[in-house]
Amino acid sequence: MTRSLFKPLALEAAFVLLGMTWLVTPLPVRAQEDIRCLTCHGKPGFEKTLPSGKKLELFVDPMRLRLSVHKDRKCVDCHADVTEVPHPEIPQKVNCGRCHFLGNSVGAPQLQRYIEYGTSVHGKALAEGNPKAPVCQDCHGDHFILPGSDARSQVNHKSIPQTCGGCHLEIYAQYQESVHGQALIKGVKDAPVCTNCHGEHNILKPQDKTSTVNPGTVVNTCSKCHSKVVIMEKYGVKAEQVATYRESFHGIANEFGMLKAANCASCHTAHQIFPEQDPRSTVNSRNIPLTCGKCHPGANANFAQGRIHLNPKDKSAGIVYWVALGFKVLTLSTLAGLLIHIALDLYRRFKNRKQPGEKKEVEVAEKSQ
Ligand code: HEC
Ligand code: HEC
Ligand code: HEC
Ligand code: HEC
Ligand code: HEC
Ligand code: HEC
Ligand code: HEC
Ligand code: HEC
Ligand code: HEC
Repeated sequence: MTRSLFKPLALEAAFVLLGMTWLVTPLPVRAQEDIRCLTCHGKPGFEKTLPSGKKLELFVDPMRLRLSVHKDRKCVDCHADVTEVPHPEIPQKVNCGRCHFLGNSVGAPQLQRYIEYGTSVHGKALAEGNPKAPVCQDCHGDHFILPGSDARSQVNHKSIPQTCGGCHLEIYAQYQESVHGQALIKGVKDAPVCTNCHGEHNILKPQDKTSTVNPGTVVNTCSKCHSKVVIMEKYGVKAEQVATYRESFHGIANEFGMLKAANCASCHTAHQIFPEQDPRSTVNSRNIPLTCGKCHPGANANFAQGRIHLNPKDKSAGIVYWVALGFKVLTLSTLAGLLIHIALDLYRRFKNRKQPGEKKEVEVAEKSQ
């Protein structure tokens, strides 16, 4: 009886003790400073009406910040110009570069990546004063920033098209319809999103020679997936398209720097790629005159009849397969004939070499007679 009474009492005492230590422990400095801001910004429904008539939410949920990568940052670490409370002025845009630079002392990851932003098409546009150019928070978000590996992140693989698409509306719509966009919607992890083809921070204009989507480099970009059997066989797509392209007239010309020759995107487009059987595909037989006609004026529906991705080892290559096979048979039989000829010749020479010896024996025999 005494034992069963004692047990809950001891537990209660432990809880009281715990609670008291919690009360006397000062709130972390971060939270204390943040309370200054949260007296106003912590109220749900706190908002203002913009001149455009839209509402801007001024409520900031501190829990979301605490769940983000910046859980240990104070409001004023980012909003550094808010020195007084209440603050009459509208604070400036947050500069992530305050902490995120190589060699910083606050422990922000040391990555080469942000430097690449400065020389990218976006960084340059910002430097030139283009107000629509994206800064870090346009892609990463503000108070709920998470690593790209987190499914809730704005820069997670599956969310990237939407993030870029917020500004590149038309391309986003085209991409969503395409075979790649549809695959992504179905949850295909191998489907390319904007950054697989364009890069993340180092995005350049397609005309830039070092861009991953320049006519001279785009073949390598598509090859990252389309030359890999392990990836392609999962979707029933042939992985030989890259090799057959490289052996084609266009591929060889492209390799030698003749950028007028067709690359993957000249025939398949960049953002409106569909399987050949799809009537929307630029390589569907009925669109061939238009697709090839861009560079070969007067091209008709039969123009691609010889087939572009030609693998002579495959029966579907038609006449080319049979011609190749014919040549193979011809070469092999010629080679076999040649070998038999050489073998017979050697045999004769061998016999001829033996004969003089035999003759001597005959001669000796004749003399002794
Ligand atoms: C007394 C209430 C109050 C306190 C305390 C307060 N703010 Fe504000 N804050 C406002 C109001 C009101 C606005 C809207 C200003 C306007 O548009 O005229 C605002 C706007 C802002 C904005 C800009 C929103 C926009 O228009 O883009 C930021 C950022 C901000 N506050 C950060 C802070 C930070 C950080 C703190 C703490 C250091 C803080 N505020 C403390 C009332 C407050
Ligand atoms: C990691 C940096 C960071 C921290 C920490 C941070 N903010 Fe912000 N905050 C931003 C960014 C980025 C924006 C978007 C506007 C901009 O680019 O300046 C923003 C926007 C705001 C706005 C404008 C309304 C909105 O949602 O666009 C308010 C108000 C605000 N912050 C208050 C706070 C308060 C209060 C805290 C602390 C509880 C805080 N912020 C902590 C980065 C931060
Ligand atoms: C006050 C300094 C500071 C500012 C300002 C700041 N960060 Fe950070 N950031 C950090 C620190 C420190 C970390 C590392 C957090 C950790 O690992 O615990 C970090 C982490 C990150 C990460 C996660 C990196 C990873 O590999 O997991 C991203 C993404 C990021 N910050 C983006 C931003 C963006 C975007 C802004 C501007 C809106 C910004 N940061 C502003 C200090 C800052
Ligand atoms: C055009 C969009 C865009 C802009 C602008 C941008 N980033 Fe990123 N950032 C990305 C993408 C996409 C990733 C890759 C996410 C992944 O796959 O892990 C990334 C990754 C990162 C990472 C590595 C952590 C992570 O999430 O994997 C950090 C840190 C980072 N960015 C910081 C910055 C900073 C600081 C700036 C501003 C100088 C910036 N970014 C500007 C799109 C952008
Ligand atoms: C906040 C808006 C915004 C976001 C988000 C954004 N961009 Fe951009 N982007 C621009 C602007 C503005 C330009 C034009 C710069 C110029 O031409 O001077 C541009 C230019 C480009 C260009 C070069 C276009 C050309 O005609 O040469 C490419 C490629 C590009 N962005 C890809 C991306 C990708 C990929 C993402 C996502 C990772 C992205 N953008 C996110 C605004 C944005
Ligand atoms: C499969 C690779 C691939 C994917 C995925 C991709 N792009 Fe592109 N993108 C290209 C290529 C190649 C070009 C070069 C121009 C061309 O050939 O049409 C290009 C050109 C661009 C341009 C500049 C030229 C123009 O047409 O205005 C922008 C902006 C752009 N892409 C944005 C995006 C955005 C945003 C996404 C995601 C929604 C995306 N791209 C997805 C390959 C890709
Ligand atoms: C990150 C990997 C990746 C990159 C980069 C990539 N693709 Fe794809 N592509 C795929 C996957 C995966 C599929 C299959 C999708 C499905 O069927 O679900 C596919 C499908 C296709 C198809 C349709 C095949 C069929 O018969 O269904 C074509 C055509 C194609 N891609 C062309 C291109 C071109 C051209 C480029 C370069 C501009 C490119 N892809 C870049 C992964 C990639
Ligand atoms: C000169 C135009 C041209 C070029 C360049 C080209 N293709 Fe094709 N591609 C076609 C045509 C036409 C077809 C459909 C008939 C065939 O298979 O020959 C096709 C078919 C395909 C298919 C089969 C899927 C489908 O649509 O049914 C894939 C995948 C593909 N190409 C990828 C690529 C890649 C990757 C490159 C660059 C390495 C490339 N193509 C370069 C014209 C081209
Ligand atoms: C981006 C431009 C471009 C596109 C698109 C294009 N080609 Fe070509 N092609 C060239 C160039 C440049 C040459 C080099 C010789 C020339 O000028 O005729 C060439 C050469 C050829 C040759 C070998 C040389 C010859 O004239 O007999 C064939 C065959 C050919 N292309 C077929 C096609 C077919 C089929 C298509 C459509 C599926 C196509 N091309 C699409 C640019 C293109």
